[in-house]
Amino acid sequence: MKNKVVDLLLENTEGLTREELIQLVEIPPKTEMGDFAFPCFRLAKVYRKAPPMIAQELKEKIGDADFLSKVEVQGGYLNFFVDKAKFAQHIVDNYTSSANYGSSTEGNGQTICIDYSSPNVAKNFHVGHLRTTIIGNSLHKIYKKLGYNVVRINHLGDWGTQFGKLIVAYKKWGSKEAVEKDGISELMSIYVRFHEEAEKDPSLNDDARAWFTKMEHGDEEALSIWKWFLEISLKEFMRVYDILGIEFDSYNGESFYNDKMAPVIEELKEKGLITVSDGAQIVDLEAYNMPPCLITKKDGSSLYATRDISAALYRQNTYHFTKCLYVTGLEQKLHFAQWFKVIELMGYDWYKGLVHIPYGLVSLKSGKLSTRKGNILYAEDILNESIQKIREIIAEKNPDLPDKETVAKQVGIGAIIFNDLYNSRIKDVIFDWDKLLNFDGETGPYVQYTYARAASVMRKVGNVPEAYDYNVLTDEASMALLKEISRYSEVIKDASEKYEPFIIARYAIALAQAFNKFYHDCQINVADENVKYTRANVVKITKAILKDALDLLGIACPEQM
Ligand code: ARG
Repeated sequence: MKNKVVDLLLENTEGLTREELIQLVEIPPKTEMGDFAFPCFRLAKVYRKAPPMIAQELKEKIGDADFLSKVEVQGGYLNFFVDKAKFAQHIVDNYTSSANYGSSTEGNGQTICIDYSSPNVAKNFHVGHLRTTIIGNSLHKIYKKLGYNVVRINHLGDWGTQFGKLIVAYKKWGSKEAVEKDGISELMSIYVRFHEEAEKDPSLNDDARAWFTKMEHGDEEALSIWKWFLEISLKEFMRVYDILGIEFDSYNGESFYNDKMAPVIEELKEKGLITVSDGAQIVDLEAYNMPPCLITKKDGSSLYATRDISAALYRQNTYHFTKCLYVTGLEQKLHFAQWFKVIELMGYDWYKGLVHIPYGLVSLKSGKLSTRKGNILYAEDILNESIQKIREIIAEKNPDLPDKETVAKQVGIGAIIFNDLYNSRIKDVIFDWDKLLNFDGETGPYVQYTYARAASVMRKVGNVPEAYDYNVLTDEASMALLKEISRYSEVIKDASEKYEPFIIARYAIALAQAFNKFYHDCQINVADENVKYTRANVVKITKAILKDALDLLGIACPEQM
């Protein structure tokens, strides 16, 4: 509504920008002063007239606007009274006429790559990786909604000296049976053993280095063991993706760039960016107050950054991205700042489209969560535990619910995702089961429950014929709900500009709360059909937006709960 007032003012005044007008338009303290007020004092300088006179002239110039019942001058203010019925109609029409409400075409013809999840092979998929997976998935959906072509990239951590260590450890203390049986846990435990033994016998490190060099040179035995570890790990990662219903367009991990790094290193040399220090090749970043970016080690082997630089060049050449986003923990901030700088120094203007999307840590409120080994939180365990808890709640409260198992999964997973996305990324996430599973809190289950409530209303009402009386929607609760509905597009845009899915999560709560107030205040299934269908139509719209908003977060909605 404010936007429409601002539009009117923009058309009818001179000397103030849209942003300035947005700042100036206020909500008056008393309803008799209208819904919006515009102070004309700033215009006094432009027009060289007294503010009340400007207000009077402006009122005449504006005349009748379709969404206003009247415009009044009070001193130096122009007060706007919104015609509520017309405004309700405007919002409903706006919704009805758009094919995919909240979507836009701003991204048409542009590609965004999102590098997320990217777990490390032979290491467990822990809760940190769960965060990047959830955040990246939501960002992908948000950009898709805005018309971008999005490439979902899982930059698997499947290359590096650690694989040399793993091969040595496997050959010395591992067995095919144990790895086959326990998968990543077994790989992790022989990896730990390697470090313990290498303390006593440092020559093991030389063996490990030699094995990794073999890998880099394409040695068959080395690669076949590595490949097997990769398959074993992927099987476990896929289980998590299946639970979450997540897919990727590319699983090109670090190993994919093994044969693409040499030309990049050559290019860095040609551009005069490489300095040799202690046998290692580095890009000196002292001028930018950063430690050097390591390109190759003394023994010639590549590093994490080398592979990231090569991957960025590859992605730019392959996908021609406008932006490439990297969703990782905050602790990698420096790593990204360093190699983004290297790309800039290479003279590539598209470095501006490289964005690191950091997030905070995950912790447990009470240490009660069952962990398999040590104190590592496995993503899969957390998800399964959440589903199990919802199963128990359903068994107790609603044992006759149809399709219980699907509902338990949708709600259990929804609760975890929502909890993750409810705050700004950079904030730490706390697992507090009582809080995140609370159906009355600011939670996923609350929004899902609200959705199910709307669905149940719609089942009772049946088809909604277009017989609306917008005067039915002028009460406070209906107006508040319509206001939320009208905000959706703005909210999506805001979330996309800030790379912050939490803006959508907060919106989903606000919309659900406004709906529940409406549901409480305004009876829907009444005899008067005008009232019934006008209200039911608002329920229908709310229901669709709730579903869409939760979908943008990666959460499904059961029709019954
Ligand atoms: N595998 C890394 C980790 O688990 C994350 C990779 C992020 N993506 C990238 N292009 N560096 O910490």
